[in-house]
Amino acid sequence: MASASAAEESCDEKFNLIAEEVSHIAQSSAESYAGIRDFLLVAVGLSAIASIFFLLTTFDVFPHFSSSFSDEIVHKAQASCHDPPLRREWRALTKEEKMDFIGAVQCLAKKPSKLGLNTTRYDDFVYVHVNLYPDTHNVAPSLPWHRYYIKIFENALQEECNFEGQLPYWDWTLDAAAPEDSPIWSVTHGFGGNGTGDSHCLEDGLLLDLKPQYPNKHCLQRDFIPGMVGFNYTTEKILDLWQNTTSYHDFRTHLESGPHKSVHNGIGGEMPTHGSSNDPIFFVHHAQIDRIWWHWQQLQPQKRLEDYFGPNNVSEPDALSQASLQDTLAMMGLDSDRAVARVMDTRSKLLCYQY
Ligand SMILES: *[C@@H]1O[C@H](CO)[C@@H](O)[C@H](O)[C@H]1NC(C)=O
Ligand SMILES: *[C@@H]1O[C@H](CO)[C@@H](O)[C@H](O)[C@H]1NC(C)=O
Ligand SMILES: *[C@@H]1O[C@H](CO)[C@@H](O)[C@H](O)[C@H]1NC(C)=O
Ligand SMILES: *[C@@H]1O[C@H](CO)[C@@H](O)[C@H](O)[C@H]1NC(C)=O
Ligand SMILES: *[C@@H]1O[C@H](CO)[C@@H](O)[C@H](O)[C@H]1NC(C)=O
Repeated sequence: MASASAAEESCDEKFNLIAEEVSHIAQSSAESYAGIRDFLLVAVGLSAIASIFFLLTTFDVFPHFSSSFSDEIVHKAQASCHDPPLRREWRALTKEEKMDFIGAVQCLAKKPSKLGLNTTRYDDFVYVHVNLYPDTHNVAPSLPWHRYYIKIFENALQEECNFEGQLPYWDWTLDAAAPEDSPIWSVTHGFGGNGTGDSHCLEDGLLLDLKPQYPNKHCLQRDFIPGMVGFNYTTEKILDLWQNTTSYHDFRTHLESGPHKSVHNGIGGEMPTHGSSNDPIFFVHHAQIDRIWWHWQQLQPQKRLEDYFGPNNVSEPDALSQASLQDTLAMMGLDSDRAVARVMDTRSKLLCYQY
C-alpha cells in the first residue's frame, strides 16, 4: 500500500511539474499574442493595416512577421481563436466527462457512413487511415496529418454526437511503471482492458458495440505485450526529446519510432496494424503524441511553428528536402484537404485548441 501511494505521489508530482511548465509556456505565448493584438488595435486607429504590415516587414520590427505565412497564423489566432479550449489528460476528467466521451464514440459507431460506404461513421475514420497509411507514417507528414485527422474526429464527436468536451489525451508517462494497470483500461469508466484468449477479442467493457470492418470484418482486438515496453513511456524519454532534439526531422523521427511506436506495439491487437484507429485508444494516444509535438513547438514558437521538413516517401528516408509547408494533407472526404501550413499552429482558426 505504502509503496503504491508513494508511486502515485511521485507520478502526480511529475505530472504537476510538467503541467506547470506547460501552463507557464501557454500563458506566456497567450500574453505575447495579446500584446501583438493590442498593438495592432492601436495601429489600426493611426493608419491602414496594410501599411503597418508593410512597415513591420520592411524594417523587420518583428522578424516572425516577415513571412506571409506567419502573418496568416497570427492574424487567424487573433481574429478567430481567442480562447482555445484545453484538451485535458484522461484522469483529469470526471466520471461523467469520461462517460460522455465514450458515449460519443459509441454514437459515431451507430451512425451511417458519410463517405458513401456501407459501414459506420466511426469506420469512415478507419477506412481513411488504412488507405492513406503509406503516405502518413514514417514520413514528414506523420505529425501534421495525425494532428488534423484527430481534430476532424473531435469535430465529428462534437457536431454529430453532441459531445460538449474536448478530445482527451492519455499521458502514458504517468503509467510507465505498469502501463497495463493504467486506469485508462477501466471496464466501467474507460476503454476496457486486454483482449482474451487466442482471438485476443475484447470481451468486456464499453466498446463492445464497435465492430471493426477494415481491412476486413473482425472483433476489436488487444494483445498487451507483457510489460508493454514501458521504458519508452517514461517522462525522461519525453524530456530528452524536448531538450535534445532541435530540428523537426530529428524530433519527428525520434518521437515516431520511439514512444509513438512502442505504445502501438505494447497494446497490440488493432494498434500495430494499418487499422490502428479501429481501437478508440488510438485517438487519446495520438492526442498525447500531438501534445508532445505542441509542447516542443511552444519551446521556440517563432522557429518551430514553421519548422517542417523531411521525406514524403517512406522509401527515400534521406530525401530531407521533399516535404514543404505547402504540401497537401489528403483526407479522402473526411474533411477538406489542407496545406500542412494550416495545421502547424493549434491556435489557428482551423484547429483552435491547446494543451
Ligand atoms: C460492405 O460491402 C462489402 C463489399 O460489397 C462487403 O464485403 C461487406 O461485407 C459489406 N459490409 C457490411 C458491414 O455490410
Ligand atoms: C493479454 O492477453 C493475451 C491473451 O489475449 C495474453 O496472451 C497476454 O499475456 C495478455 N497480456 C498481459 C500483459 O497480461
Ligand atoms: C540530453 O542530452 C544530454 C547529452 O547527451 C544528456 O546528458 C541529457 O541527459 C539529455 N537530457 C535528457 C532529459 O535525457
Ligand atoms: C524503445 O526504447 C529502446 C531503448 O531506449 C529503443 O532501443 C527502442 O528502439 C525503442 N522503440 C521501440 C519501438 O521499442
Ligand atoms: C517512392 O520512392 C520509390 C523508391 O525511390 C519509388 O520507386 C516510388 O515511385 C516513390 N513513390 C512515390 C509515390 O513517389
